[in-house]
Amino acid sequence: MNQTTFKPLVHGIFDPATWTVTYVVYEKPGGACAIIDSVLDFDTKSGRTSHASADKVVHYVHEHNLRVKWILETHAHADHLTAAPYLKEKLGGQIGIGAHIAQVQQVFKQVFNLEDEFKTDGSQFDVLLSANQSIALDEGVGHIMDVPGHTPACVAYQFGDAVFVGDTLFMPDVGTARCDFPGGNAQSLYASVQKLLSLPDDTRLFMCHDYPPTDRAVAFVSTVAEQRTKNIHVHHGVSESDFVRMRKQRDATLEMPALILPSVQINIRAGNLPPAEANGTHYLKIPLNSL
Ligand SMILES: [Fe+2]
Repeated sequence: MNQTTFKPLVHGIFDPATWTVTYVVYEKPGGACAIIDSVLDFDTKSGRTSHASADKVVHYVHEHNLRVKWILETHAHADHLTAAPYLKEKLGGQIGIGAHIAQVQQVFKQVFNLEDEFKTDGSQFDVLLSANQSIALDEGVGHIMDVPGHTPACVAYQFGDAVFVGDTLFMPDVGTARCDFPGGNAQSLYASVQKLLSLPDDTRLFMCHDYPPTDRAVAFVSTVAEQRTKNIHVHHGVSESDFVRMRKQRDATLEMPALILPSVQINIRAGNLPPAEANGTHYLKIPLNSL
């Protein structure tokens, strides 16, 4: 297969509760697929997790007779919990994330004062993926791109002409991801965005989220050409210093995401719950006056 003309099929499932898009990427019905950035539903009032969103993915995979090879994360999300272990149990596949996740685990092990046994080497995940490493579907091969900035461990996944950009670019009228979480860096995000914008004009860029203005419907795919001309934060001509100034000013006005505390504690464990306490119940922590 000619990897430059490889055009995978992409199905996006939008979760209105967290504004997240989960993708199923594949070459043909009946073949192998990757699932990118799944969502585990979480009710903050009761502390209950549930699987309605993940079951949409399960349904789609069954309906198209796909074989799950990869369950991928673009980063340790701060706004939704991952359903990766649930999907692995239902569908198989290997859970992968960018190799720099270890840095994120180190930061949050401190923030949450996690148990001594919590490893900060990424070993909770099945595979740690490094830049330029390739991952195969059937004949088509995907590549990993390091795109740090929103977190130090963010990666994008490129399968042929489709790139799953994680929290870097958003739709052109929304802009870019925030850089103010622990380990975030606006200069790095600018460099990562330039890397994405240097891809061919017609490359399809799939967003991790959409926060649509009131006058348009949810959308989650654009092209490099559209982003270069229209992205409100990083269109052609915006310098690194302009971007960093804008990003810092804007980040200073943003509240923490509603699910940051549960999300991070679950997601740095590859989606697993913290160890149960002596009574058999799993607990999450709330660090006071810390974030
Ligand atoms: Fe994120």
